[in-house]
Amino acid sequence: MEHVWILASVWVLPALVATLFAIWFKTSTALTEIVVGVLGQLLALRYWGHAAGWRRARDGPHFLAGAGAIILTFLAGAELDPTCLATRKGEHAAVRIVIISDVHGNYDALSALPERYDELWVLGDLVNYGPEPQEVVDFVKRNAAAVVRGNHDHSIGYGEDPRCTPRYRDMADATRRYSDSVLTPDQKQLLRNLPVNLRLRRANKTFYLVHARPSDPLYGYCPADSEEWVREVESVVADVVLVGHTHTPFIRQIGNSTLVNPGSVGQPKTGKADACYAVWEDGDVELKTYPYPLEKTISKIRTMPIPPAIQRDLSTVLRTGSV
Ligand SMILES: [Fe+2]
Repeated sequence: MEHVWILASVWVLPALVATLFAIWFKTSTALTEIVVGVLGQLLALRYWGHAAGWRRARDGPHFLAGAGAIILTFLAGAELDPTCLATRKGEHAAVRIVIISDVHGNYDALSALPERYDELWVLGDLVNYGPEPQEVVDFVKRNAAAVVRGNHDHSIGYGEDPRCTPRYRDMADATRRYSDSVLTPDQKQLLRNLPVNLRLRRANKTFYLVHARPSDPLYGYCPADSEEWVREVESVVADVVLVGHTHTPFIRQIGNSTLVNPGSVGQPKTGKADACYAVWEDGDVELKTYPYPLEKTISKIRTMPIPPAIQRDLSTVLRTGSV
């Protein structure tokens, strides 16, 4: 009779719990999750199988190993992503996701976002060009459920050239020095530690997030109508592929995947000054815009410790979308 109790408590119950966790959090195709899940089950077989010899089945090490296996199995179904601590509890629920990108230190635009959301996702380039990178980083840290690193975040985090086009190079260089001087070490570390891509599941859909393009996450430039997007999208196998970087919003259907660029919140290049973003809800995605107090931002740019010619260029880009 005692053997039956040991069998139930040491082997069957933990295995059942582990299985329930795996079902509850439902593993996806992400390789890390599969590897961790297999490791968890191997540990379970190794130690609980050994424990089935009964003699020392209730010893501490066996229970610890069993607990470890349960935790690993749990992790197999959760998002193994340090910037998105939300687990999969909402995977099957209706969810409204607001997707933004390229905020570029424009806190006036970011804080005017007129949208409620269950989750806010940010596709990178939090800093440079704009006057308030520290406020933007703090806002994103407080409110975003998922963030990927852009080339400008990388330039601050690692002290590297953001590789801008020639016309924007002087603006990027001057404001990069400014951003570097006002951001705290913790904020720079946050930028440095952002992942370059993310794969998430919500409402039974797989999302792939990257700043530029999957094959070149930080710098690859690919216009909306480029045929290169077909290969890029097919390479990641996701229901929705989310990209930024170009500051121009678009939606394209490529096979069974939807490719979305929400445009830029902080430096839109649509020919209008309105900030751009996207909303995904119940399988539908929509591109939206909103006005923000642009002149307030421009007056802040005039106080930045950068050459007047660069202040003028930055203001022109905000007003017209080009320079
Ligand atoms: Fe950008």
